Amino acid sequence: MTSYLTGFAPGAGRREPRAGFTSDAPRIELNGPWRFHLSPSVAEAPTGVADPEFDDSGWGELPVPSLWQMHGHGSPAYTNVDYPFPIEPPFVPDENPTGDYRRDFEVPEGWGGDGAAAVLRFDGVDSCFTAWLNGHELGFSTGSRLPTEFEVTEYLRPGRNVLAVRVHQWSAGSYLEDQDMWWLSGIFRDVTLLARPAGALDDFFVHAGYDAATGAGTLRVETSVPARLTVAELGLVDVPADATHTIAAVRPWTAETPRLYQAELSTAGERVPLRIGFRTVTVEDGLLKVNGERVLFRGVNRHEWHPEHGRALSEETMREDILLMKRHNINAVRTSHYPPHQRFLELCDELGLWVVDECDLETHGFLFVDWRDNPSDDPRWREAYLDRMRRTVERDKNHPSVIMWSLGNESGTGRNLEEMAAWTRRRDPDRPIHYEHDWDSRYVDVYSRMYASHEEVDAIGRRAEEPLEDAGADAHRRALPFVLCEYAHAMGNGPGGLTEYQRLFETHPRCQGGFVWEWIDHGIRRGDHFAYGGDFGEELHDGNFVTDGLVFPDRTPSPGLVEYKKVIEPVRITAEADLLRVTNLYDFRDLSHLSFGWTLEEEGVVVADGTLELPELPAGASTELPVPRLPETTGESWLTVRAVLAEDTPWAPAGHEVAWGQVAVRPAPGAASPATSTTGSTPVSTSVSTSGGTGAAAGPVTLGPGTFDRLTGRLTAIGGLALDGPRLDLWRAPTDNDRGGFPAMEKVWRGVGLDRLRHRVIGIDREDGSLVVRTRVAPAARDIGVLATYRWSLGAGDRLRLTLEVEPQGPWQVPFPRLGLRMALPAWIDRVRWFGRGPGEAYADSRQAARVGRFEASVEELQTPYVFPQENGNRADVRWATLTGPRGGLRVTGEPVFDLTARRWTSEDLDAAAHTVDLVPGDAVHVNLDLAQHGLGTASCGPGVLPEHALTARAATLTVTFAEVAAPTE
Ligand code: GAL
Repeated sequence: MTSYLTGFAPGAGRREPRAGFTSDAPRIELNGPWRFHLSPSVAEAPTGVADPEFDDSGWGELPVPSLWQMHGHGSPAYTNVDYPFPIEPPFVPDENPTGDYRRDFEVPEGWGGDGAAAVLRFDGVDSCFTAWLNGHELGFSTGSRLPTEFEVTEYLRPGRNVLAVRVHQWSAGSYLEDQDMWWLSGIFRDVTLLARPAGALDDFFVHAGYDAATGAGTLRVETSVPARLTVAELGLVDVPADATHTIAAVRPWTAETPRLYQAELSTAGERVPLRIGFRTVTVEDGLLKVNGERVLFRGVNRHEWHPEHGRALSEETMREDILLMKRHNINAVRTSHYPPHQRFLELCDELGLWVVDECDLETHGFLFVDWRDNPSDDPRWREAYLDRMRRTVERDKNHPSVIMWSLGNESGTGRNLEEMAAWTRRRDPDRPIHYEHDWDSRYVDVYSRMYASHEEVDAIGRRAEEPLEDAGADAHRRALPFVLCEYAHAMGNGPGGLTEYQRLFETHPRCQGGFVWEWIDHGIRRGDHFAYGGDFGEELHDGNFVTDGLVFPDRTPSPGLVEYKKVIEPVRITAEADLLRVTNLYDFRDLSHLSFGWTLEEEGVVVADGTLELPELPAGASTELPVPRLPETTGESWLTVRAVLAEDTPWAPAGHEVAWGQVAVRPAPGAASPATSTTGSTPVSTSVSTSGGTGAAAGPVTLGPGTFDRLTGRLTAIGGLALDGPRLDLWRAPTDNDRGGFPAMEKVWRGVGLDRLRHRVIGIDREDGSLVVRTRVAPAARDIGVLATYRWSLGAGDRLRLTLEVEPQGPWQVPFPRLGLRMALPAWIDRVRWFGRGPGEAYADSRQAARVGRFEASVEELQTPYVFPQENGNRADVRWATLTGPRGGLRVTGEPVFDLTARRWTSEDLDAAAHTVDLVPGDAVHVNLDLAQHGLGTASCGPGVLPEHALTARAATLTVTFAEVAAPTE
């Protein structure tokens, strides 16, 4: 066994960590195809690979940067908390996949100029590697998501050079990298050869502060060798860098207004272009402030992920993430749980996002051995901890977007963490320190928690949380600002309860927002679906817990992201009486970059529109405007006010919608008038089948256009439309959130048999012109049940009106998953049009983003492709809907509304499916018309459904009207 693999030292032979930057000094990119050979263990790895003459002609090729499991070498493996190897630090398994990489490259004569040195830089290698240049060993390094540099001057030669790198999947460093993600290996970030001309700048530290009281900026750049600084725009030309320059008036950098000043540092050896952002971060008065203002994080946790490339991201993908975030009103990123590719931070500087930069550290797996031997409190690991923090801070210290350092994630507590904090505070006193897992917050500047319930966040917001035993520690923590570094677990359908969190953040100044867990589903593309944990034969895995993002693996926004965008919108538009209220929820900027327009829609059809003029509205202020003069309407009418970008921005074009509000200006003209049964003109006729039935009583029952089964009382046709008529449905395919929590709702529901209800007909009667079908619906082995009574009558225009009455019987102690009707329509039905909330899905506790309007979609488009199939696609508050195809269809009208789902498989199919490809269109379109569904909550990790969104078992009535839609005539 190679000893460095199981030593505590984080590396050997490496240069000191320093700022990541580019300059005009020459560089040679070493990305591209490398020769590659994977061995199942170190013992089986070839010998002599470092020798420049080694014959690698029998090897294959692998691109650098990449992760070898994403290219068919070995397999990805997913665990959340578990180490996929025995816990016996610092040892690792003998089965330690080892990848050998080789390539050659040319260096021109005189490269870098006289006296130039050369540095070989690796931006990220997972998890441990040794490198040789021209046969000379350079050293080794751990710290997968951190840069490593080797001095190579003495080994580099003009002409052909040969570089060999040996990478091991497992190393002692793996104990410090137990993040909840795929285990993947290889050289997955850039490799570069840097010329360091004589007199080059080795390192520098930009200190650019902003004084909000005076508007002045101060600038000082600490440099490793004397350097000159030019910021032409500020009138600083060739001044000494390492002196304090005060500029009377600068525009500050904020995530909302990411003003950067172009600058240049120059030394005898090189010129370094810089982009400087002036801002000051403080913790004062118990609040986290930037430029003197409390900031509110509308954040996300971002892992680096691509469904084909894993954690090796292109710049295009990084940019796409930021554009998507900005377009969805997100203003902050926690780089969970490691420093990202540095280009990502440059883009955050440029486009504007607050960044909590987290060190590459997690030892969560020690949880399962009661934190015995946790490296965080073991002095043998001290150097490795400090090494990781130093490499994080030194690399990223010049990014204005980085406003807080995070020591790592879920690594317990201990003196090594404390030392990391102390070192960081000394090195960079200008940024606060974050670390969640120490709930006492002893060595941090911000009280941080994950998945705390609304109730607890409220208590913390009032600074009324449970006290710590130690009074001093308690006083310290109680004085700190509070953030939820993770909340609202975006796994599958959800999260529910975002609005309630946001209200708390807006109510309590101490609650400075949070970071939704997490940005992206880490699904791996496999044919036409996405794979998750267990799909690669892992002996230990955590299934689809790896797909818990706001965007799907291919970065399609999920309904959760659309909801988040609405909940965190920086402008709130509401109405009170005849006044519109517009509130500016930005922390810094006014609303002059937005233009406001309105539309009036009657029954979802635009009948008038206009623009609104707003007075100047500074951050935090609100104003009232009269509702614009609107034309008379008769149908249900809504005024929608939209705030859109007035001009193109670097992250979205003019016209991009930032915020909206809707006001009902005229209610529906009254629910459809119930059928009167007094005329007797359309009595229930019990017709006797004449077509070959053996018994006189075998024929169907009819009511107007409706045909009913005599034995079950189920509607079988409306006019010419054959269907499998509505009956009570209480079941939904459990969501990931239903499957989480203690106890999980799914278990509770299955426990009482809600997934296997039986229907018993009690009686089918004619009553006053109505057909009344009484049933009892109940699971085997239980005495609870539901009386479901279907009252069919005739409404105006030959419509069939159905009132479903539901009455629970027995001791119901569980909420219903859903309450409504299910039916099946012919498979040729393919289009759905509706007037209600849309265009996307909505649930009781995730419905802010669904606006009232008229929408249209195919049955396919109504589905949300959660990586793990589950309940989805519910359209809320539907007034009416038509479900049609080439041969006509059905119109359903609510009294007043219903929730609508239509899919080509049943809830049972959805429940049984493990991947999206398991969902195969059947011979019907299955439709649910619901009175309600149980909320979503976020119990896959965090609190469940809030009481106000629970669907408590109770008596209820749902009324809908059905009419056949005639086939279109050509
Ligand atoms: C947190 C952890 C994250 C992730 C999340 C659940 O405890 O910090 O990395 O595992 O839970 O998805």
